[in-house]
Formats: sequence, structure tokens, C-alpha cells
Amino acid sequence: MNNDKKLATRLSHLGRNPKQHEGFVNPPSQRGSTVILDSAEDLYSDKKSYGLEGTSTHDFLTDALNGIMDANGTILCPSGLSAITTTLLAFIKGGDHILITDSIYGPTRRFCSSVLKGFGVEAEYYDPRIGADIEKLIRPNTKLIFLESPGSLTLEIQDIPAIVNVAQKHNILTAIDDTWSAGVYFKPLNVGVDISIQALTKYQGGHSDVLLGSVSVKRDDLFKKLKETHRDLGIGVAAEEAWLCLRGLKTMILRMNHQDKVARKIASWLEKQDIVAEVIHPALPTSPDYEIWKRDFTGAGGLFSIILKDLSDAQINKMLNAYELFSLGFSWGGYESLVINCAPQLATRKDPKWTNKTALIRYSIGLEDEDDLIADLERGFAAIK
Ligand SMILES: Cc1ncc(COP(=O)(O)O)c(C=O)c1O
Repeated sequence: MNNDKKLATRLSHLGRNPKQHEGFVNPPSQRGSTVILDSAEDLYSDKKSYGLEGTSTHDFLTDALNGIMDANGTILCPSGLSAITTTLLAFIKGGDHILITDSIYGPTRRFCSSVLKGFGVEAEYYDPRIGADIEKLIRPNTKLIFLESPGSLTLEIQDIPAIVNVAQKHNILTAIDDTWSAGVYFKPLNVGVDISIQALTKYQGGHSDVLLGSVSVKRDDLFKKLKETHRDLGIGVAAEEAWLCLRGLKTMILRMNHQDKVARKIASWLEKQDIVAEVIHPALPTSPDYEIWKRDFTGAGGLFSIILKDLSDAQINKMLNAYELFSLGFSWGGYESLVINCAPQLATRKDPKWTNKTALIRYSIGLEDEDDLIADLERGFAAIK
């Protein structure tokens, strides 16, 4: 479908072709390992010949994701984390230096300090708000700059155009974990980022029952390399997961816009609570990142954090245990509201601000009624008064 239509319209039509499947609106969940070929000549041709290359269900999903991200090629991976690791394995080799935002998703950092370090790759962590000063960190062997904006716990917004500008000048690849915006509120590939990664597990799946990731690019050479690495790693995706994700895409914008509206309302309410030292939400005018967020993003979704005034671990646990609606769970972007205490996850940050055991609580706003959610937050505060 043409890109001249609004995304909400395109999402209703992307990723399906009723003529291809008996007129039914949606494509079937086509499972499969073996593909029966028509002739001996086809055996070693460029025709699809094995299930790891994906079935029509996967193709519908990658087409839809290309449409959302304005990409020319997308690969699917069995999780968001495997989309990240596949990207790193595709473009980095021993002896390379890579620059990674200090606000990166924890398991990405773990992969760098375990697997990539073992391969002789040096990962250096930079301040997410570094902007054009990233140029000072570039070395002759710097191959990739990895971004995540905002970080999924501490939510710093990066000046992506400034970083891309430096990267392009030095011929360095840029990759972004864009899960927070889902490719809906920000289009990394359209501002010159080379590689856009999604944990489709979050907003695209939307119902907390899918594990899936994707990597999207505009450039053909990058797509070719990604496909080769994906093939070499043998990481197929179950058709059921792709099908559930296609289903989730249809309502993604509605869900995200609603979660965005309610999250901003709740975040503003939290700013007025005595016990809250800081609300970290880039779309609040009080945020230090507000201007850059407003310049680059069209919305915010349902994820934000707060820092509480001095509270013991026992008090924090008491507050979290008092919630009836906010469930304790490590994901986000689903229809149900979630909460976690992030402090233990901040231990590996380079910036001492975060390692000094900050009482950082992250909320993912679901689809419950906003007044009920605020009452639940009040219940948590009352438990520790
Ligand atoms: C920012 C971010 N990127 C990537 C991932 C990984 O996604 P998955 O759980 O599908 O591996 C997550 C999961 O929490 C995440 O928060």
C-alpha cells in the first residue's frame, strides 16, 4: 500500500492479501520445514526451498514491518534480544571497537561483555546525551554506534540526528533499538540510522503472548548481510508467533495512543506526589529531554519511570506488593499494566548517578481505566505512609 496514506489506515491493510488465501481477510498461520519443489532444476535455484527462509505468514509480517518502518528489508528473529545479537554478529568482528549508549537494554550489554568480548570486540559505553561530542570517542577501528532512545529504564532521549551526522562523516554504521517508539512515533531509517531493531514482543505483539524481534534496513547490502547471518545462525521463527504479531499490528496504534494519553496523565499526577523525587518521562514539559523528544517523536507510548525519595528496599517492596492492578513483571507494551523496581538492573551502568542504588521504579501502562490505575498507585503509597 502507498505510503501517502496515514499509518492507521495502512496498518488495516498491510500484511494481508485475501486473494492469496481463499478470500479470507487474514493470512493463515502457515507452518513448515520442507518445501516441495516443482523440478530438479529448482533444487539449487533462488526459489524458497526450506522453512528457515520463512513461510508466507512470515513474508506478510516482514512486508507489513517494511511498511511501518519505511524499510526495504526486514528479518525476523525469535526474540528482541536475538534481533540485537544477530545485528551485532552480522556487522562486528574481532578487533573492532563499538560505541554503545550507557542506557542500553541490560541483556545487550551482557552479550557485549560476554560473547563479543570473547571474540575480541571492545565495547565502550557513552553518555546517552552525548550528541555530536560522540566524535571524540571515535577510533580508527570504530565500526558501529549502537543507540537506544529513550533507554527503556532511565529514558534519556538521544540526539540521534547529531550522532548520525558524525557516524556518516566517519563511515560508521548506526543501529538503534527503537522498541520504545515501535517505529510508530519515530522513524529511525528516515533520519539516516542504518539499522532499526524492534522487540516485537512489546507493542506489536501487544498481548503478552508473543516473543519476536525484527531488524529493518533500507540498504540492500546491509539486508544481504543480515539475511546471510540469520541463515548461518539458523534462527527460524514459529509461524504462530508471526501470525500473532500480524494480528497485534492491526490494533497497535489504537493501543499505543491510548497508553500514551493515560501514561502522560498518570506521570503528571505522580509529579505532584510528595514521595516522588522525579518523574522520568520525555514527553513531560518538565523533562530535560522534552525539546529533543518534541523535535523527533510524534508520541510516547506507555513506558516511564519514577525516582522515589529515600526509601528502604523493604518499603519499596511493600509498596509494590500492595498494588492490585500493576503486576510485577519484566516486560512492557502489553494490554496489562506492569511495574518493576529497576535498582538491581542499574548496577552495570557507567554513570555513578545510577549505580548509587537509586530507587527507580518503572511502570508500563496497559489498557485499564486511568482512575483505577491512579487509585492503585495511591494504594501503594498508602502502604508505606
Ligand atoms: C528495550 C528492549 N529491547 C529489547 C528487548 C528484548 O526483547 P525480547 O524480550 O523479545 O527478547 C527488551 C525486552 O524487555 C527491551 O525492553
